[in-house]
This record gives sequence, C-alpha cells and structure tokens, in this order.
Amino acid sequence: MIKKAVIPAAGYGTRFLPITKALPKELLPIIDHPTIEYIVNEAIESGITDILLIVSSNKNAIIDYFDYNLELETILLSKNKYEEYGIIRNIAKGANIHYIRQREQLGLGHAVLQAEAFVGNEPFAVLLGDDMYVGKPEPAMKQLMDAYEKVQSTVLGTIEVELKDTSKYGICIPKPDQKGPIVELKGVVEKPKVEEAPSRSAIGGRYILTPGIFSYLKNQTRGAGNEIQLTDAILRLMGTEKVFSYDITGKRYDVGNKMDYIEAILDFGLQKNEMKDELQKLINKKAK
Ligand code: UTP
Repeated sequence: MIKKAVIPAAGYGTRFLPITKALPKELLPIIDHPTIEYIVNEAIESGITDILLIVSSNKNAIIDYFDYNLELETILLSKNKYEEYGIIRNIAKGANIHYIRQREQLGLGHAVLQAEAFVGNEPFAVLLGDDMYVGKPEPAMKQLMDAYEKVQSTVLGTIEVELKDTSKYGICIPKPDQKGPIVELKGVVEKPKVEEAPSRSAIGGRYILTPGIFSYLKNQTRGAGNEIQLTDAILRLMGTEKVFSYDITGKRYDVGNKMDYIEAILDFGLQKNEMKDELQKLINKKAK
C-alpha cells in the first residue's frame, strides 16, 4: 500500500504574478479554502498517511496554514464560535504533514529529489500543488493507486488535452496496440512543439513513482525551460522499469491558469448549499 505522498509547492507561480509575489499560488483561495487543502484532502481520502510539502523560503504561509493557531482557537472558543473552531482545528486531519525547503527552484524534478530521505525505499505518490481534481467516482490519486496495484510499477496520471495545448505538458508516447485506461509507455517528452506532439495524452500532475527515480533525478541535466524536469528522468527510468499511464476520470482544474481558477471557484461555489442559489442567479444575470 502506498502511504506517502509528496506535494511540490516551491515554484514561483509566474503565471499569476503579481499576487504570487506575496501569496503562494497554492494558497489561492477557492472561496474560503486554499487550493492546496483540496489536494492534501485528495491524498488523505486516497489513504495517504504522510505528506511531504516541498516549499521555498517565501512560502511560510503554507506551513502556517496547516499548523494550529492556538491564539485564534482560544478567541473563537471564548466567543462560543464552535463551528469555526472545528473548521480550523480539523484542517488536514488524518495525515502527518512534513515540510522540506527546496533551496533553489531548479524545476519539478529537482523538487521531487528533495523527498528522497522522506520516501525511503517504497513507491510514493506525487500530487502537484496547483492541480485540483474532482475525481469520479474516486479521488484521482485513489484511481492511480488502484492502477499501481495492478501493474506494480510507475504510473503517470494522464488527461487528454487539445493538440494546441500539448506544448504545455509532458506528453506520453504509448507502446503500439495499447488500449486504455492503463497503457504501457515507450516514451515521454516534456513540452514538445505542437507539430511534434506524439499524442494528446498529457501528464496531469499526478504520479505514482518508484524510488528508482531518485538515481536518475540526481544526475538529470536541465531540459525544457532550462529546468530539471521530472519527465526527463522518467524517460530514463523506462530503460530499467516499465512505466504506465492511467487516464484519470473526473474534472481537472489547473489553478495556475486564470480561466481554470475562475471555473474552480464557480464550480465549488455551486456545490455549497449556503450560496449555490444566489450564485446561480448571479451567473444567469451576468450571462445576459
Ligand atoms: P509549475 O511550472 O506549474 O509551477 O510547476 P510554477 O513554476 O510555480 O508556475 P509558473 O509556470 O511559473 O506559473 C508545477 C509544480 O511544481 C512545483 C510548483 O510549485 C508547482 O506545484 N515546482 C516547480 C517546485 O516545487 N519547484 C520548482 O523548482 C518548480
């Protein structure tokens, strides 16, 4: 059973500047909860017990969010605000949260390498700190873990993207004659030019990796964007281990992208009993 997860959240979030100058992208609120809390909850609901958040020196607010705030708790209790107390006390309940700082932002591959001591010698989950899923019927990571149980090897969670968007993702090259949802891969390529994209199957921010990845990450040269890319290390891992893709079912929101972020706020708002009717009315009014 996979019990450990790594959530890289140390990137600069340049697509969301200037707000990310002071607020970590992973704390962008989906109304009243930050994005990263949904991702932590997905891991917990999938059966993960230990989560390592990879942060950087200007992301202390993430650590504060998952810590107790005893002063605020005392004040809420003194005002008989028990519901609010329960909400803040129960954040990320059910898992141990650990932290490590990535001292330089050299890329996602380098971020994952920081997890080596935490992971030890077992397979582990990776969930990107700005990719949210509403998995159907199960959480996205649980779907990947079930796929891992079948193949007992590295599994990349994939989504189908439009051809024009392939240059933003790691793109999978399936072996011939494979039928989904679990497909063995013969290659992966990070951010290919659109005209060179080998498929529309994109890595969607969810991975089950084996500890074998670390030996490749350690000497991985820089790739696309002059960053140490996880995709490039996975490609080299394919020389020694089978790597599979699994098509995630559900809805994905790339919260680092402004339109996806707005959609996430609307969709989650429409799920909230206390506001869904008024929000629907507002949307109808604006649509006119
Ligand atoms: P992204 O490329 O989406 O994030 O990396 P970014 O670099 O922060 O954002 P933009 O593109 O400049 O807007 C995917 C994930 O990997 C983490 C990010 O925090 C994000 O969760 N990451 C990226 C790291 O932890 N360290 C890095 O060096 C790079």
